Amino acid sequence: MNYFYKMSLKSIVTSPLSGIALLVLLAALLLTFSPKFYTPQRLFSAEELALFNGTDERLPILLGILGSVFDVTKGKSHYGAGGGYNHFAGRDASRAFVSGNFTGDGLTDSLRGLSSTEVKSVVEWRDFYFKTYKYVGKLVGRYYDGQGNPTKYMKGVEAKAARGAQLLDKQKIEEAKLPSCNSRWSQDEGGEVWCDVGHPRMVQRPLEIALTGKMSKRCACFEESQLNQPGLEVYEGCDYHANRCKV
Ligand SMILES: *[C@@H]1O[C@H](CO)[C@@H](O)[C@H](O)[C@H]1NC(C)=O
Ligand SMILES: *[C@@H]1O[C@H](CO)[C@@H](O)[C@H](O)[C@H]1NC(C)=O
Repeated sequence: MNYFYKMSLKSIVTSPLSGIALLVLLAALLLTFSPKFYTPQRLFSAEELALFNGTDERLPILLGILGSVFDVTKGKSHYGAGGGYNHFAGRDASRAFVSGNFTGDGLTDSLRGLSSTEVKSVVEWRDFYFKTYKYVGKLVGRYYDGQGNPTKYMKGVEAKAARGAQLLDKQKIEEAKLPSCNSRWSQDEGGEVWCDVGHPRMVQRPLEIALTGKMSKRCACFEESQLNQPGLEVYEGCDYHANRCKV
């Protein structure tokens, strides 16, 4: 760079008027380009999203969940080609986060028939991605319409997740009313449950059927006066008044 050129450059940068002109130019450039790069409204079609499946090393790896799209490139070892979570890349496989079914139609964004707590669990996975990875836009389809607005289906899913959360809270409160048994297990002696106060009984978890569609039992401790309540099961081979049972 010759001296003359340096001088003229210096005079451009230091002249107050051209300084303002430069600022205006910069601002105009920012306004022109930033919406494209930073808007949270970037919309993807399923076909566009599929390109970001980790096959092409030059492209970021993107993943959809409940119609939100995240850049998971920093988790390449998991989401990239050959990684254990690669089936989540380039698509929205919301259902598979709770079903664990990564084959064929298992890789769908439909949550049809899942329980409210399972739906809540998918919503928690989406929260995890918001916290851990960069949010880059929305997938047009089941969860967002062509304008990027949430669909009826999305609103239904969020309402169902909220019901799931309420049920779980209720279950916690119910369970806290009955102390759980102590338990331990060892290779030599097998399993054992016991109560410091009261007698071990198997009980149906409250609300479990509403929550998961399945029955599930736990061990709780009951005092002498409560033993005639309905729904209490004595452990097989255990004495009615024992406070310790093999399981
Ligand atoms: C994965 O992405 C590549 C390009 O990045 C594309 O050619 C290929 O079709 C995609 N695979 C699927 C299953 O969509
Ligand atoms: C996964 O889902 C597909 C389609 O719904 C079904 O045919 C298949 O049996 C499922 N696999 C497992 C292991 O549940």
